[in-house]
Amino acid sequence: MTQKFISITEAMKKGKGKVSVRGWIYRERGSNELKFLIIRDSSEIIQCVLKKERFSAQWPEIDKIQIETSVEIEGTIRADKRAPTGYEIEADKLVIVGQSKDFPINKSLNEELLGDRRHLWLRSRKMTAIMKIRSSYVQARDEFFKKEGFYRFDTPILQPTQSEGGSTVFPVDYYGQKLYLAQTWQLYGEAAIFSLEKVYNMGPTFRAEKSKTSRHLSEFWMAETEVAWWKLDEITEFAKKEIKYCVEKVAKERVKELKILGVEPNSLIKTVKKKWPTIRYREALKILKEKDKLTIPFGKDLRTIEEEKLMKHFDTPVIVTNYPKEIMAFYKPRDLKHPDEALCFDMLAPNGTEIVGGSERSLDLKEMSENLKRDGENPEDYRFYFDLRKYGSVPHSGYGVGIERVIQWICKLDSIKDAIPFPRTMTRWSP
Ligand code: 4AD
Ligand code: MG
Repeated sequence: MTQKFISITEAMKKGKGKVSVRGWIYRERGSNELKFLIIRDSSEIIQCVLKKERFSAQWPEIDKIQIETSVEIEGTIRADKRAPTGYEIEADKLVIVGQSKDFPINKSLNEELLGDRRHLWLRSRKMTAIMKIRSSYVQARDEFFKKEGFYRFDTPILQPTQSEGGSTVFPVDYYGQKLYLAQTWQLYGEAAIFSLEKVYNMGPTFRAEKSKTSRHLSEFWMAETEVAWWKLDEITEFAKKEIKYCVEKVAKERVKELKILGVEPNSLIKTVKKKWPTIRYREALKILKEKDKLTIPFGKDLRTIEEEKLMKHFDTPVIVTNYPKEIMAFYKPRDLKHPDEALCFDMLAPNGTEIVGGSERSLDLKEMSENLKRDGENPEDYRFYFDLRKYGSVPHSGYGVGIERVIQWICKLDSIKDAIPFPRTMTRWSP
């Protein structure tokens, strides 16, 4: 074909005249005289009609065409209210680029089989919508950090120590030496604030989560931030600003995709415009006790059911600060005004999931050493990290956003597995 191909969206914008589009067969139906092919490309779907009288020589081939065949089509576009997206192309020419016989995805497949055929299931409208939303979210985040004057800072995935608890690390044989896949970017991110002050990144993050839940992946993408000089109140307000910015961007940019998933974009915008409360862990316990008759002793982490119960009382994300010091990672500092609490926070989404975790960073070498020993670690292995406290130490804070958790919340997904193209869990590692 000599004519330049345009996307289906561009063709619909043009609305009339000759167009050439290319893509994959999304649906096909027809009779002896007439074939309706719905073509999809990355932008849209469109109905194409092929008349036998025009394609007599090619008709046997057209008659056998199956879904997911890749094609090029040239024809005349016009508005047609009966067509699924309001336009139809009457085809003059069809080129089959790649055959597709018995595409192995259909409505009867269960979750396990769809998982095995993930590489093909990604073509579905649902997965395509989610991937576009995820892409918009991450692009919005980059935009946000650029506007806020941050530097992007990239760090190793292969690391010599754990950082978020030894029970969930993945060890790797590194030339005969034991290393670990990154549980977080943070410890290295902290090294950057002494020259760059405000840094962020997003990278693959690994946790050997031994439980099967709808919100845990073994490999996920954490979007982290670290800032010199800031204290807990500044970092928590900034985390709200980041998430609000990105969610609003997605709600405006991905109206069609959100609607495919049954999400009303305006409801997200409404959520963003509200004030997102910050409460303390002790207040959360009080709410659970008074409103849900759930007594949780101070010192216990909130479990999924408690987070879900708590969030039933809110219609926006909520930041919970000051969790019990004793159950927190080694680098979370003690709140000197409330010595059994740490200067840390989680952000919980309205669906009851923790989407963000962060804190001020401890500047107390002795206490961090003791925490590490408590966790069965050798403080000697953290020498580089302790150096950061020895040479021009400053207060600083940061946090990490679980990108899949946020996508799961915005897209109202039952399982976090659908928030990432190729999920990795305890029971799923291929394709
Ligand atoms: O709360 P976490 O463990 O915090 C950290 O790792 C800090 N070092 C981050 C920082 O301060 N720079 O993890 C941060 C977020 C969680 O709130 C959650 O959203 C997500 O990462 N997350 C997971 N997402 C999917 N699957 C898992 N197994 C996850 N573990 C944590
Ligand atoms: Mg956490």
